[in-house]
Amino acid sequence: MTLTPVDTAAGTHFLRKPGEPLRIWAHRGGSSSAPENTAASDEVARRAGVDWIETDVQSTKDGVPVVLHDATVDRTTNGTGEIRSLTAAQVAELDAGSWFAPAFAGQRVRTLVQQLDGLRARGGNLLLEIKNVHTRDSVGRIVDDVYDREMSGRVFVQSFEPQHLRWVRELAPELPLGLLRGVLDPDPVAIAKDLEVLAYNPSEAALQTRPGIVAELHAAGVAVNIWTVDNPTSWRALERAGVDGIITNRPAELAGWSAATR
Ligand code: G3P
Ligand code: CA
Repeated sequence: MTLTPVDTAAGTHFLRKPGEPLRIWAHRGGSSSAPENTAASDEVARRAGVDWIETDVQSTKDGVPVVLHDATVDRTTNGTGEIRSLTAAQVAELDAGSWFAPAFAGQRVRTLVQQLDGLRARGGNLLLEIKNVHTRDSVGRIVDDVYDREMSGRVFVQSFEPQHLRWVRELAPELPLGLLRGVLDPDPVAIAKDLEVLAYNPSEAALQTRPGIVAELHAAGVAVNIWTVDNPTSWRALERAGVDGIITNRPAELAGWSAATR
């Protein structure tokens, strides 16, 4: 299956129009069914027809952007140690699938370039989270990889760190940006405008502290995507609350639920 690339440069289409389905963002790929952030989990999302794959990008000791969520490789590979203390060559040797199930033995921690090449070859777009600690140079290397692979029209960048977003804005003004939040800012609209983000992406719990923020952000032209939501009761509530998208570990199930309940 090859999915149609989405031109993110248009920007405002991340706001969900009345009657449109929720946008589905596959959290670390189809990570309920395959090891997170691997080619296998990307393929689960792709085969479910979900064309936005969320990923976490960090840098190795020698400065190579790789796809990994945790600060260490301990939980999701057969190795140990902090990712920033390992070289790309060392990381490439790790098994990133066996921890999830024996059938996934041989899955690798990919470089960002390898993930982008997979998307180019097989379809899909990237919700790229700049994860954990970065410098301007390491963010620049990520941006360079995206441009080298001619994927700037198919990448949406997000981060919890405003400074990461500012660096991306300086280095690549056309890349769409989203601000991740575990707790709402005192004035979400103000920070969204200041950072020039197209999306404000709070946790489900954060949104529940102030549901009216969806309308306020929409009035400012900012989309709202909620993480990480895996159950249909919440999917229904969030759809009715008017959010634009849901970041989920269960993209295939959300796609089926969305289609079946329309
Ligand atoms: O995309 C939202 C979500 O990924 C943020 O939290 O810890 O899963 O990266 P985390
Ligand atoms: Ca993430």
